[in-house]
Amino acid sequence: MNKINSLRGMPDFYSDDLISWTPVENKLEKIFKTFSIGEIRTPILEYTDLFKRSVGDTSDIVNKEIYSFNDRNDQSLSLRPEGTAGVIRSVIEKKLDQQQSKFWYMGPMFRYERPQKGRYRQFHQAGIEFLGYEEGKSDFELIALVCSIINGLDIKNAKLKINHLGDKDSKKEFSSSLVNYLQPFKDQMNEKDIERLNKNPLRILDSKDHKMQEILKDGPSLSNFISESANDLLLSIKKTFGDQCKIEIDNKLVRGLDYYTGLVFEACSSDLGAQDAFIGGGRYDSLAKTLGGKDLPAIGLAIGLERLISISSVSRLNEKKLVFISSTSNIAPLAFKIANQLRNANSNISLDMDLTDSSLKAKLRRANKTNASHAFIFGDEEMTNKTVTVKSLRDDAEQVSMSITECIDFYKKI
Ligand code: HAM
Repeated sequence: MNKINSLRGMPDFYSDDLISWTPVENKLEKIFKTFSIGEIRTPILEYTDLFKRSVGDTSDIVNKEIYSFNDRNDQSLSLRPEGTAGVIRSVIEKKLDQQQSKFWYMGPMFRYERPQKGRYRQFHQAGIEFLGYEEGKSDFELIALVCSIINGLDIKNAKLKINHLGDKDSKKEFSSSLVNYLQPFKDQMNEKDIERLNKNPLRILDSKDHKMQEILKDGPSLSNFISESANDLLLSIKKTFGDQCKIEIDNKLVRGLDYYTGLVFEACSSDLGAQDAFIGGGRYDSLAKTLGGKDLPAIGLAIGLERLISISSVSRLNEKKLVFISSTSNIAPLAFKIANQLRNANSNISLDMDLTDSSLKAKLRRANKTNASHAFIFGDEEMTNKTVTVKSLRDDAEQVSMSITECIDFYKKI
């Protein structure tokens, strides 16, 4: 029979991989709690229309990257490519779209992108959404959170790029001025940028084409279209948090999702390679209305966990590990009872019960190859005497015979 492989860009994770995930996830959760943010969990599957109307059907995400299928009822459903749309759908449904709330979430997202280092088809995000807050205080609070993440997770060589897209009208005005400016250069543009010019002109600012970047140098600048207060906001954010993380105002930062208005930002690290953004976010004041809700000004962000974890030096879990070896001639139920008493006595230790039928010698050899510090041996003699033999696996110290109570006390103190 042919073996079945995983889908491209959708990796499996084993304990050895996850050992660096857990401390980062825990640290993020702690940071979110210090900002008094509550958790939300929304489904992975939503109606395709939700993403068309939010992320936008001119965006690459909806156009080319969404995983969609028709269910048995012929409804088009999609695996979520991001978390914001689902959160807004949910608060509208629960009639929470007229109050202020702060949410965080973590989970898998799906985009049919070309897989490469740092870019997957199933990846994980931790996201934050501040709902019901107009431009101002919440923008500062969210940038404070970004700085806490960068510093709390000890991210080196990080830079936070910020920009302001203006309100709906100034975004429109800038967009048409950009189109007018670029029309005469159409024959020098590549296919992808011509498509962007027709469908979503702002995205051209993101073009990786050098010639395009040269052309854009003399083109209109977003900073001339946005209000004085918007420019002030950018300067004030840079001034306020500049000593906590490196901040740069980048008038070419537009972001790939259609719902943004106002402040947008991206945190990058030169340690990541080509896919260097590990946080992306911004303000999206019109999204709730677009999805049939009330006016709900909002701002949020999402962290790419694979990327963050690969550059975070938050220490790996220093897991304490021990091995319990039952080497009686017949199965000794008491061994399992003692092992469980030990586990209940100290939940910081991982106690591996050797379940094989091999000899004591083979079991000890195997235990020595793990990073376990001690082996607890329970053989025929120990069963008769109601004792456990404790053997250090790290040094040549004499093994010690302990009563079960002594053994539990010893285990508590490890
Ligand atoms: P985004 O910029 O599309 O924003 O994604 C946020 C982060 O997710 C990126 O900076 C990156 O680290 C990670 N990411 C995106 N695609 C992939 C991929 N294919 N493989 C690995 N990591 C990836 C959003 O998703 C918005 N929902 C953020 C937001 C929340 N805006 C407002 N609220």
